[in-house]
Amino acid sequence: MTGGDGSGRDTALDERPAIDPPEWFVEQANVADPSVYETFEREWPDCWDRAADLLDWTDPYDEVFRGGDVPPFEWFPGGRLNAAYNCIDRHLPERKNQLALIWEGHLGESRTYTYRELHREVNAVAAALREKGVSEDDVVTVYLPMVPELPVVMLACVRLGVVHNVVFAGFSADALAERMERTGSEMLVTCDGYYRRGSAVAQKNKADNARIAVEQDVSVVVLDILSRDVHLGDGYYDYDELRAAHDGETVAPVSRDASDTLFRIYTSGTTGEPKAVDHTTGGYLAHVAWTSQSVLDIKPEDTYWCSADIGWITGHSYIVYGPLALGTTAVLYNGTPDHPEKDRVWEIVDRYAVDVFYTAPTAVRTFMKWGEEYPERHDLSSLRLLGTVGEPIDERAWRWYREHIGGGECPVVDTWWQTETGAILVSTLPGVDAMKPGAAGRPLPGIETSVVDPAGEAVDVDEAGELVVTRPWPGMPSDLRTGEGWGAAATCGDEWRYYPEDGASVDVDGYVTVLGRVDDAINVAGRRFSTMELESAITGVEGVAEAAVVGASHETAGTALYAYVSPEGGYTEADLRGRIESAVEDAIGGVATPETVVFTPDLPKTRSGKVMRRLLTAVANDEELGDTSALRNPEILGELQSATPDR
Ligand code: WTA
Repeated sequence: MTGGDGSGRDTALDERPAIDPPEWFVEQANVADPSVYETFEREWPDCWDRAADLLDWTDPYDEVFRGGDVPPFEWFPGGRLNAAYNCIDRHLPERKNQLALIWEGHLGESRTYTYRELHREVNAVAAALREKGVSEDDVVTVYLPMVPELPVVMLACVRLGVVHNVVFAGFSADALAERMERTGSEMLVTCDGYYRRGSAVAQKNKADNARIAVEQDVSVVVLDILSRDVHLGDGYYDYDELRAAHDGETVAPVSRDASDTLFRIYTSGTTGEPKAVDHTTGGYLAHVAWTSQSVLDIKPEDTYWCSADIGWITGHSYIVYGPLALGTTAVLYNGTPDHPEKDRVWEIVDRYAVDVFYTAPTAVRTFMKWGEEYPERHDLSSLRLLGTVGEPIDERAWRWYREHIGGGECPVVDTWWQTETGAILVSTLPGVDAMKPGAAGRPLPGIETSVVDPAGEAVDVDEAGELVVTRPWPGMPSDLRTGEGWGAAATCGDEWRYYPEDGASVDVDGYVTVLGRVDDAINVAGRRFSTMELESAITGVEGVAEAAVVGASHETAGTALYAYVSPEGGYTEADLRGRIESAVEDAIGGVATPETVVFTPDLPKTRSGKVMRRLLTAVANDEELGDTSALRNPEILGELQSATPDR
């Protein structure tokens, strides 16, 4: 099979060997007709009808897309729907007793919810939230670890037309407060605490601190996880009591306009501040449902496992909304991959006969490092498709994944997308396309991308440049859709473009290889952090004069954070090291703690005083320094090299 772009070009001409999906996969694939690319192209934008057809609408839309060459754009105008209805109620006639969620806890405890049980839970919680005064368009902040109540609360909000704002449970009180304050959220759902790597995290303490820090009054619903009888003062409610008081009640799903906000999520942007991304009810849901079907090949009878945390966009789109919209069984895991043993993930795959597994390249590299003896202990033959997301996956890890997890047979999809895109934009279609390890694939049907130079001109085949998305897509966030402030979008001539801030190249078959961020964001273990945010946390420590954070390649995490810090006179490394770590933990969370902190009397600077990050990155990666003539203080480089630990 060739790239299927109709050019008849043999992918074997390219240096990278292409691997066809096996026939048994193609025969059963949701999307197996290679003409899907041409059809979408010919019918654009009406091709996106197919995605919208996967949903139930209370009011049909007037047209698929309304808009000209530039914003405002509107997807499915006139259409109305409720996302919780689409993820639960409409499945009841056919599969009320099918499992919707299988939850596995860190000690091996498990809980399951059929669609009927999920319906009951979501309705009870929706009724409780409504009774506490939450109504359409309000923002509820959710600060929970990976427990079933997290998707339950999200869907309860959505049932009411309430916007959820999920904050990753590992974030700090400050990070929570900032996100609550900026949304004006007056309701917070959290828990007493939870176990992470064997130690108890005092989640409610963090929530209490955030509640005090914000200007608005906040009511707090507390889920009891640790059974420690925490005191709930004024303005606090017990989750289980509220739920029990409303058990058995039903709440009519509130119809929302296709462009109404479904949820808000914050991500790391180019500035030091977290960036709010609002996803829409119609366009987003249609896009995640369609990509869950066409790229992840999910079928209702599947058991599907995405090992991300719901606190990040991957979990929103591909644990909760996409899979449940398609009526499948989704696994949720609250634990680590090496506890009690390094075969934990494969033990779960084996036990539940998981069909489709979606994870981050960093996890694959970790499994590879641990060795194949762990997957070999289990029967993984139920697996049909493997996927990755969050960072580039190198050819070696890709091959290992396919060989040792996929039995040498499963297609592997390397899916490129981001918080802002809401859903997958670039990937192979596993039932159609040949795979090239190391390259994500072509833009999906209906999606158009290009790789451009700084002047905005398309670069030559295999040349590096910046990835741009050149046509609107249904899952686009509200600010890009309305064009408000234009954000990361721009025009080049008459053409509208979205800049995802990723470097990339395109090969002769149109396959995109993503090279990594071009802005100040760094992807660590598939999670996105802003260097500015980290640096401002570090420079906030008394005694720190300056700090620069760069990414250094890391065997399993892909990239590790290296902080270069120059102290003020009179302060020593011994004074500052611990305080820097806690400052980062306070500002963002322990997940952002730098792997290495290097103390240096000065940072490499240009004559105008600008820190040369390129040189710091080279030092951290033990690479050639290249041209250093612009430096004011070249003597610092040798010192930095010897102070950076060997890797
Ligand atoms: C990176 C996660 C290479 C990229 C869904 C993007 C990838 C950022 C891939 C978004 C991939 C995601 N290959 N890089 N398949 N997928 N990325 O917002 O740099 O947390 O811009 O969304 O992850 O990170 P975010």
